Amino acid sequence: MTTKLADTPVAAKRRRYVSDPGDIGSLVQPDRVHGSVYTDPAIFELEMERVFGRAWVFLAHESQVAEPGDFFTTHLGRQPVIVCRDKEGAIRVFFNRCTHRGAIVCREAQGNTNRFQCPYHGWIFDTTGRLAGVPYRGAYSDEFLADEGLNLAEVPRVENYRGFIFGCLSDTGVGLVEHMGPLIEGIDGILERAPEGAISVPVGVHQYEFRGNWKMQIENGMDEYHPPFSHASSVKKGGHQMQRAYGSTDGYKVVRGSEDQEVGYAESYYDIAECHGADYGQAFLTIPDESRKVDLREESYKAKMIANLGEAGYEDMFERARMSNAVFYPNMILRSTGNVHIRTIQPVAVDHTIIRVWPIQIAGYADHMNKGVLKYSNIHVSVASFVQTDDIEIFERVQEGLQAQQPEWLMLARGLDREWEGQFPGELVGKASWETGIRKQFAYWKDLMTAPE
Ligand code: FES
Ligand SMILES: [Fe+2]
Repeated sequence: MTTKLADTPVAAKRRRYVSDPGDIGSLVQPDRVHGSVYTDPAIFELEMERVFGRAWVFLAHESQVAEPGDFFTTHLGRQPVIVCRDKEGAIRVFFNRCTHRGAIVCREAQGNTNRFQCPYHGWIFDTTGRLAGVPYRGAYSDEFLADEGLNLAEVPRVENYRGFIFGCLSDTGVGLVEHMGPLIEGIDGILERAPEGAISVPVGVHQYEFRGNWKMQIENGMDEYHPPFSHASSVKKGGHQMQRAYGSTDGYKVVRGSEDQEVGYAESYYDIAECHGADYGQAFLTIPDESRKVDLREESYKAKMIANLGEAGYEDMFERARMSNAVFYPNMILRSTGNVHIRTIQPVAVDHTIIRVWPIQIAGYADHMNKGVLKYSNIHVSVASFVQTDDIEIFERVQEGLQAQQPEWLMLARGLDREWEGQFPGELVGKASWETGIRKQFAYWKDLMTAPE
């Protein structure tokens, strides 16, 4: 007699978790999430409304709109927006949608202008978004053209925390600082370590897209379980990229405690660091060793900072520089030490995502140090990098793997219930290879996705 899969204990256990498609909350369990959160177009649509429509979303760095008339175009979720510094110096964020018949008003990535002219029928908007010109206007009544609804619409809430500009499509909810929680340390820290107290992103962008769900990149921003395997070619002596690793018998093992990674006392090298997860889905990694702060020991830099802070102040600053990746849910990763950059995530479709990486330049760094950031970003996060290309390959493999209908769930149990409390209310701390941060992301995701208003 044969046993059908449907009769096995494993199948019965799986059935317990099968969710009602209408019950979004059941898709997130303490130790797992349902595969449909990465593959179901209807869930993606709801995310655009309830996650990107409710959370604070990173838009731009102030240096991208430094002067009056400067503009920078980007997306808030799927919605095109223009970040603009008006002629009075105020930063505004407009929906990039002409109020005549809906065309994108501004297609350029960034620049400086007195006005935006829609390419379709030539309507003109000034830098405050006001409708300032309509071709052949005699066919309209003055009363019609006086309607303020013809000005470019503005994103309801915009906040600028020390140069980091965020927008929120909901006019209710917590302010930006409360939303960021412990992550303000990532922004404060990078500015504290800048000898002249300022940073900018003037050197362009690495841009690429992948056929996978947007959450894969925001989860990966503090996933320190994967580097020994996905990034074998970069972190193991003699390591190869993943396709060729099969059959490899030698090379440096990124493991502590035992050469055998599967025994209980073997530990990832990365677990000398921590993964923190907090309210509102915020998460960060600490620095595993001093390798990510070697810049801070550079002689000319050290001399400047000692002049600024004194010897003891400099050492204190060095010690406190603990944050590596600050992962701002839902769409930005700030690498705040070493290879400093802003990485943004633009959801396009349930299986299509665009990544942009803006290397940061630090005011007061020696030229060779700022160039070093660029070189490192080429190796780490460019389209031709040795590291991020591994991740992109993996994201697409996950999306493909999820087309298989069984098992239905993805596991997030690593380190569950072993974490300890952090400094902020709701903050949990685990070892770097634990899935602490991802669980916090999904806790917030569940809150947002299940709240009706
Ligand atoms: S759609 Fe913009 S002017 Fe007509
Ligand atoms: Fe990675």
